[in-house]
Amino acid sequence: MVWQVFTARKSFSDPVIGSRWANRCGLHLARIRLSDVFLAARRWWLFRGKLTEEMQQFRRDGFVALEGFLEPQDYKILKAKAEAVMQAADATGPAPSYRDAGFGKPHIYNWGFDRCDGSTVNRFYTLPSDDVLSRLADNPRFRRLLEYASGCRFEPRRLLLYRLIQGSDGGRPDNQRDIHRDTFHSCVKFWFALSDVSEECGPLHYLKGSQRFNEQRWRWEKARSIWASENNKGGAFRCSAAEANAQYGDVPQPLVVKENTLVLADVRGWHHRGYAKPGTERLAVYGSFRPSPFGLPKVRPLDSNGQ
Ligand SMILES: [Fe+2]
Repeated sequence: MVWQVFTARKSFSDPVIGSRWANRCGLHLARIRLSDVFLAARRWWLFRGKLTEEMQQFRRDGFVALEGFLEPQDYKILKAKAEAVMQAADATGPAPSYRDAGFGKPHIYNWGFDRCDGSTVNRFYTLPSDDVLSRLADNPRFRRLLEYASGCRFEPRRLLLYRLIQGSDGGRPDNQRDIHRDTFHSCVKFWFALSDVSEECGPLHYLKGSQRFNEQRWRWEKARSIWASENNKGGAFRCSAAEANAQYGDVPQPLVVKENTLVLADVRGWHHRGYAKPGTERLAVYGSFRPSPFGLPKVRPLDSNGQ
């Protein structure tokens, strides 16, 4: 159906999204350009161009990493609560010993869900909406940054506790380690680190500025959209390090951060999970905000004090 062009649908196995003729004519590039117009409109509706330094940095680089984000006392309380939630859930169902191929399906429990990317385990725990969590969720700086990045209203219910247990890259490789982008339009993920993220536990790697398209990237996107149309592929495109380097003169770099750091990234930019020592873990409060790429600014304007 033609209306699917104006949705978040991204798979090139779709007959319209993946039409070879339409993509030769530039359908994929047109969707990207149009989604950028909608995002700019939603951001304008929210902020009227009054951007903090962090917002400008996010717009320029595609990510921010803000150390010491919460006051130490608030952070300590939040971390203790998060660990208690995790331990209570783990007591009812330990981390799975099974592994999935590729991007696995969620395994649902009453406390959250597991998903395996090959040999890597992702555990997502539901967080209670109480005054402890609100130390992050109600933080004005946090909310404003997320609202700017996503161009939509902040929804605290979308915050999860995320424990990542790195697998080995033997039999079932983790395909999140390949350089990729999640979507054709800008959308946002954040990780508020509850543990130090060292090089050995496979930090997020991000290619600075790659959420913005230059001439080389536009050319690559068009060629890849035609190839994906011909091969009925998904829409989370992968690229090689050589291709990323040819487009931006660099490859994704690791975001090694300390606990109590907020990392926020536009996952249209090139990124991947780092290679890690098997068994290493990281813990974070996590959220994914993927508004409709062609949604009208159905967001309430911010109060005059910007909150
Ligand atoms: Fe991703």
